[in-house]
Order: sequence, then C-alpha cells, then structure tokens
Amino acid sequence: MSQLGTETAFEVLAKAKALEAQGKNIVHLHIGAPDFRTPENIVEAGRKALKDGYHAYTPAKGIPELREAVCEDILKYRKVEVHPDNVLIVPGGKPTMFYAIMMFGEPGTEILYPNPGFPIYESLIEFSGATPVPIELEESSGFSFDAEKVLAKINDRTRLLILNTPANPTGGVVPRSELEKLAKGLEAHPHVYVLADEIYSRLLYDGEEHVSFLEFEGMRERTILLDGWSKTYAMTGWRLGYGVWPKELLPHAERMQINTVSCTNAATQVAGVEALRGPQDAVDRMRQAFDDRRKIIVEELNAIPGFSCVMPKGAFYAFANTSGTGISSRDLEDRFLNEAGVACISGTSFGHLGEGYVRFSYANSAENIKEGLRRVRESLQPA
Ligand SMILES: Cc1ncc(COP(=O)(O)O)c(C=O)c1O
Repeated sequence: MSQLGTETAFEVLAKAKALEAQGKNIVHLHIGAPDFRTPENIVEAGRKALKDGYHAYTPAKGIPELREAVCEDILKYRKVEVHPDNVLIVPGGKPTMFYAIMMFGEPGTEILYPNPGFPIYESLIEFSGATPVPIELEESSGFSFDAEKVLAKINDRTRLLILNTPANPTGGVVPRSELEKLAKGLEAHPHVYVLADEIYSRLLYDGEEHVSFLEFEGMRERTILLDGWSKTYAMTGWRLGYGVWPKELLPHAERMQINTVSCTNAATQVAGVEALRGPQDAVDRMRQAFDDRRKIIVEELNAIPGFSCVMPKGAFYAFANTSGTGISSRDLEDRFLNEAGVACISGTSFGHLGEGYVRFSYANSAENIKEGLRRVRESLQPA
C-alpha cells in the first residue's frame, strides 16, 4: 500500500477548507473542476431519470443508449467510427486509467507516462509494480514532446504508453506532427499499447484542433481512449466517464468493473445521454469564459517578479515558471496558502520535473483570479 501515491489537489482542498473553518478567506486556484453548474437540461434529465425509476443496477458496460451516444459523439468530434461494443461506461475519468494501468503493469515491466503530468499515472504505475518511465515535457516545447525521444525509451519491457493532450497540469497540446510520428513509430513495437487520456479534448483555444490518437488507424487496435463528462459538462461530482477499448481487452476491463463498482450510477448515465445529444451551447459558453480568464491569468502571472508563464493552449490550468523566485515549489504552495490565503498546487505534485513551477487553475472567476494573484504578488514582496 505504501507504493500508492495520491492527488495532492484533494489535500490542498482539505487544508484550505480547514483554514476557512477558522475564518480565513481563501481564494481557490487549485481546483480541477469547472466552477460552473452542470447545464440545466442535463440536471433535469438526471432528476427525471430518478423519478422514472432508474434505481437499479445497469449492465456493467453501461446502458446501451449511452454507449451509442458516445459513439455518435466520437464520430462528430473525432471523425472516427467506433462500435458500442468497444465502449465501457465508468464512474469518472479515473476508472479507465485504473483498469488500464493495473491490466498492463506488473513487476519487470515499464510504463511510459508524462512528467509533469496527472499524478495518478505515476501513482498507479508504482502500485502495479511496473517501473514508471517519464516522458519529459518541457516548457521550451510548449510542454509537448519529441516523438523520436519517446520512441527511444521503448524496450521489450515496455507495455503501455500514456498520453494526455490537452494536458493537466501544463495546458500543453501535442501537435499532430508528433502524434503522427509516434503512431507510425509504434507500429514497429506491437507489444506496446497506448492509453490516450483526452478528457480535456473540448477545452482548446485559439482555434487549436483536437487530434485524437484513435485517428491513427495503425494504432486503433492498441489504443484505449479515456474521456468523460467531468470537464466538458461541469459534471465532476456526477462521476461519469468512458473508455473505448480494443475488442480483446474490453471483457477484462468489464470484469474489473464488476469486481469493483458493478456499474455506473443509473440516473447519471441517463443524464450523460442528454449531455451528449442535447444542445452544446453551454459547453461553448464555458469554454469562452475559460478562454477570457486564461488571458487574464497569464498576463497577471507574468507581471509577478520571479514568475513567467507561457500561454496554455488547452484545459484550464496555467503552469507558471516560478524558478526566478529562488523558492522551492512546495514552499511557495505552503506560503501562498498559509500567508496569502491562496490555494494553488506545487509543480512537484505532478512529478519531479514540476520543480520550479506552480499550477494555478483558472476555473474561477476573473475577479477571484485577480485577487488571488494580487495576494501572491504581495506575499513575495520583501518585508
Ligand atoms: C488528465 C486527467 N485525467 C483524468 C482526470 C480524472 O477525471 P475524473 O474526475 O472524471 O475522474 C483528471 C481530473 O482532474 C485529469 O486532469
């Protein structure tokens, strides 16, 4: 059990709540959840589902209508045809990650994962007994990677390669050219599968197109696509996600589901159908609001002495380079929370390569972002 890591965002949240309970005012810039309410049509669909009697277990794979709606959505936004038999509905984005990493990881094997990256990848790889092999994401390349360098890390122990674009915590996007090279190069390594975490695929800015790893035909039989409703539809608390699995792997993932949660909440699944098939204007409105705040937060971060921040292309995080302050990322996280009343997350919570960075989420109002960063600037001024 000591191999299992955590997601520090939940710890920062607990500390921030404890400070608030003592009467302190905290600006929350650590959150990985949209600050919007779930759109009303989706809430209504969930409410109606409960009224209509969706109270029992559903098939472990999910209700057929939702699995079909997922396929329609993938065709609409990714231009890829998938069959409902390949879709496993799960409670959130995380279960697909858990099932895939536990399925492939065991002592003596290696799993490639982005660093800095979503902390649960490294945590679960270690838990499975596999060796985590970082794919270094550098600021100088917009937090993307060079496909050749990634391919050079593959050996006969490699089992799985994890991709996340657009990315948490950097907001980086891997360009089509690198994904294409990677997919082509992987054809020479038929023992390596890919977990493509595309949970931020609808949160892209400046006309950036989403490139799904499922687009690369040569890799389709070896790609597990992870997506969900949490970020796109402001539904983090509903717990709803899906995986698109290669045919021979889906029964194993389904069995993991049966052994853990049985199935996903029934009424939530019905709400999920409405989310995908209903109007999408709320998604566009939320994205526009994030885009406006993205520009504000980057400008404010760059005005702080010792800070610099590149413009993120996706998701809702700004990954500020704080090395100019001469203070470690963890100390900055503590100082900002305890002295300035601003919750944010040390870059090292996303892997050792996050040293020298702090993640600020812009899933908060422009007013709160400005106030939070004013406090941050003030706390860094010499006494
Ligand atoms: C990259 C990435 N993948 C997956 C998840 C998990 O999503 P969920 O909350 O739906 O489990 C998150 C949540 O922050 C994330 O940032």
